[in-house]
Amino acid sequence: MKTLIINIQELLQIRDASIQKVSGSDMKQLPSIKNAYLLIEDDCILDFGSMENCPKNDVDVNIDATGKVVLPAWCDSHTHIVYAGNRILEFVDRINGLTYEEIANRGGGILNSAKKINAISEEELFQQSKVRLEEIMSQGTGAVEIKSGYGLTVEGEIKMLRVIKKLAQNYPIKIKSTFLGAHAFPIDYKENHSGYIDLIINEMLPKIAQEDLADYIDAFCETGYFSVQETEQIMEAGKKYGLQAKIHVNQFNAINGIKACVKHNALSVDHLEVVTDEDIEALKNSDTMPVALPSCSYFISIPYTPARKIIDAGLPLALATDFNPGTTPSGNMNFVVATACIKMKMTPEEAINAATINGAYAMGIAKTHGSITKGKKANIIISKEVTSFYQLPYAFGSNLIDTVFIEGKIVQ
Ligand code: NIG
Ligand code: FE
Repeated sequence: MKTLIINIQELLQIRDASIQKVSGSDMKQLPSIKNAYLLIEDDCILDFGSMENCPKNDVDVNIDATGKVVLPAWCDSHTHIVYAGNRILEFVDRINGLTYEEIANRGGGILNSAKKINAISEEELFQQSKVRLEEIMSQGTGAVEIKSGYGLTVEGEIKMLRVIKKLAQNYPIKIKSTFLGAHAFPIDYKENHSGYIDLIINEMLPKIAQEDLADYIDAFCETGYFSVQETEQIMEAGKKYGLQAKIHVNQFNAINGIKACVKHNALSVDHLEVVTDEDIEALKNSDTMPVALPSCSYFISIPYTPARKIIDAGLPLALATDFNPGTTPSGNMNFVVATACIKMKMTPEEAINAATINGAYAMGIAKTHGSITKGKKANIIISKEVTSFYQLPYAFGSNLIDTVFIEGKIVQ
């Protein structure tokens, strides 16, 4: 099956197969071809180029993209879309003056979601979660990482990870699964941290490995959650099962967690609303991708990740949604890209690099996703008619997506 897209105003994010991420000043470049075509065969990109060289051969589907831009589908490397119910009342509590930390301290927050997960069936959790997966696909996301972390019991964590696996089996979108048992200490273990960490290491991890339920391991490294030393224990344990780390760190406090993550060769460090000079130094010359989550900053009114400080230091940066019921009930990558431009002073080129190739890197799939490259998955966004791709972040409240292809098929 061949699909030919012709007369593309601008085909964005064309990369050589060797490029796995872009860093520092290179992020300002978004290689493109104006007046281009793109040829898809089955689930992959077969060819592309300037319209002058457009193949004349017969294809199965022809799409005229006059006035439209084409770019890789978003790669959302950090979400928690498998959850039960919602936390709307906490949203209202915050409007009335409580902070995220105050709500968590009185048993809300992650523990509130954990109660809900442990009260519903796997099937019901699947039904609730698939609605969110279908929504983000229609909003242009072509690959996504999903975390557990609202179970906090052996059964609850396994239930979540099985649902993630089932989503991956039932949808064309690439899904990477992350075990986040170390998201918070359950009430019963409030004074017994080592008891819960033992449960993670000795009960949860072996079961997860046995059922092959996770690709990565995560922990919430934060004051009041997992200390740096506890996070290191989790990363070490994950390594024994081949699970590389992707860590929640520096959301509210900088406690030297980034250095520990780099030491343990974490694939990504995520949040980074608070970043010290030492954190920046630790990330230099590492393979660890910093990931910013601007919708979270927006929703719970905390600082935005200092993107300029990170990129101007020569580092790469990825953007993701953090879609979850507490801090970011939105999986809209278009909003993330716009907010990164508007609030974090990233250029549109930088933001698109961060939301495509660097997002792919942050979930270990840059060989197959995140750019327009021959042989990569045909994960494509065709915009509506726009004056240029700058209109995508500029018109931040408009839906400028016309068509989304995931693995060569149109998503409705
Ligand atoms: O990435 N910060 C830790 N975890 C999630 C939110 C958890 C929640 O409140 O449900 C986050 O923001
Ligand atoms: Fe998160």
